[in-house]
Amino acid sequence: MSNPSVIGLDLGTTGARAVLADVSGATLAVHEAPYDLRTPRPGWAEQSPDDWEQAAFIAMSAVASRAERVDDIRAIGLTGQMHGLTLLDHAQRPLRNAILWCDLRTGPQRRELEDSIGVPALVRHTGNLPLEGFQAPKLVWVRQHEPNLLERTAHVLLPKDFIRLRLSGEFFTDVSDASGTGYFDSATRRWSAEMVDVLALDQAWLPEIRESPEIAGRLTPASAERLGLRSGIPIAAGAGDQPAGAVAAGVVAEGDAAVTIGSSGVVFAAASAYGAAPDGHVQVGAHAVPERWYLMGVTQAAGLSLRWLRDTFMPGISYDQLVLEATDSPPGSRGLLWLPYLQGERTPHLDVDARGALVGLTTAHGRADIVRAVLEGVAFSLRDAAGAIQGVGAYVDRFKLAGGGARSPLWRQIVADVFDAPMRVEPEGRGPAFGAAMLGAVASGLFASVEEAVEITAAPHQTVEPSGAGVAALDAAYARYRGLYPALAYANRAAAAVQAAEAAEA
Ligand code: XUL
Repeated sequence: MSNPSVIGLDLGTTGARAVLADVSGATLAVHEAPYDLRTPRPGWAEQSPDDWEQAAFIAMSAVASRAERVDDIRAIGLTGQMHGLTLLDHAQRPLRNAILWCDLRTGPQRRELEDSIGVPALVRHTGNLPLEGFQAPKLVWVRQHEPNLLERTAHVLLPKDFIRLRLSGEFFTDVSDASGTGYFDSATRRWSAEMVDVLALDQAWLPEIRESPEIAGRLTPASAERLGLRSGIPIAAGAGDQPAGAVAAGVVAEGDAAVTIGSSGVVFAAASAYGAAPDGHVQVGAHAVPERWYLMGVTQAAGLSLRWLRDTFMPGISYDQLVLEATDSPPGSRGLLWLPYLQGERTPHLDVDARGALVGLTTAHGRADIVRAVLEGVAFSLRDAAGAIQGVGAYVDRFKLAGGGARSPLWRQIVADVFDAPMRVEPEGRGPAFGAAMLGAVASGLFASVEEAVEITAAPHQTVEPSGAGVAALDAAYARYRGLYPALAYANRAAAAVQAAEAAEA
């Protein structure tokens, strides 16, 4: 019997992950293929689009081969790391490695754009500031440092749309990913004519825009053969990884928000009307659901804080073991506080010079306290992010916890206590790739709308309630945490200056 299914591809920061999901929401196969992150200088982050292509095709063919009948696979949905800059020449070849969302080289270019255009105008045109990770300041950087490349540029793409090109030969992007470029008007869901003009972009470089569940390309015979799929199947426009993850978590209507603890941490709320912060301190964009928008707060080093702690000081120990030890420390970590700004911070400070800190140490503290302080510090930064988006008008009455951090019972409880709100824990496997598969399912007509896809594929879940004692202790700790960023601002700016000087010499 036929069981219609869809491939979702997530072109992530560490690798390409493909899932094959059917219309009941069951995941039939998953495959991940890694690639390298290149850091030619401290603070720089690049990847080879050719590596992406190779890994994406490996991951997609692996899941395609697991379908009972190839004809069951009706569509492909794409998602991936947002904001990255991919420049192609006239022969559709990459002109340089892609510059990624987490690359911090563009501080001066961001400031130049803010000074020359002005924050109110930037927010009016796009809803956002031209953050370091966005394409706009990266294009300015390329113009200043590698001008010959722009002369040879024929196409400017976001990461997942480079894979679309290889799959379909066509140039498209979707509204949600375009929202993170710095030259897209999230309110009207079109490229911003003003920003395209100010940035001196050639309109011909830019892909056409589609709503996320619309068809944006079809599989060419050559790619179909490489993947073992039927040629001509539709490719959904898809979405950036955060909006696609929100679809997977069922965050499609106003009132719902996803709290995701991955490498970075994100609070993402769906909204039925467009709204932006006048000073641009929260990210806004067009959601992967037509006629919906999003508000998003991002903490740069969430899971990354724990990974850094482990890899640096306790190599070899498993995360499960690490977090188990932390249960020996009480809520509040005996007065220890962790500021998770290992990669600067986005929301609410928008400060690339913010730095991490462990504050309040005494000889009485042990490993358990330090690990617990890190878990709590990340939860505090997520509460800051939630506060920031709620301050701009996001209405949230239901939080859904997702990402790797949601797998840890202690971390879940800490988040529920810090937010003093129930956290609905999303089942494992319901990440961006699954969301992309659902967008593919809508594009191919298997569902009438994203809302219908979410409703029909909803999976059983568990809810973690806040615990009385934890809430009070963590609320007090959060108040002290809030004081740390301003208290350490001077020292951290000085530290960042030293690090920048050392990097320049290297
Ligand atoms: C979103 C963001 C990250 C990247 C990489 O604004 O920067 O989610 O998309 O995952």
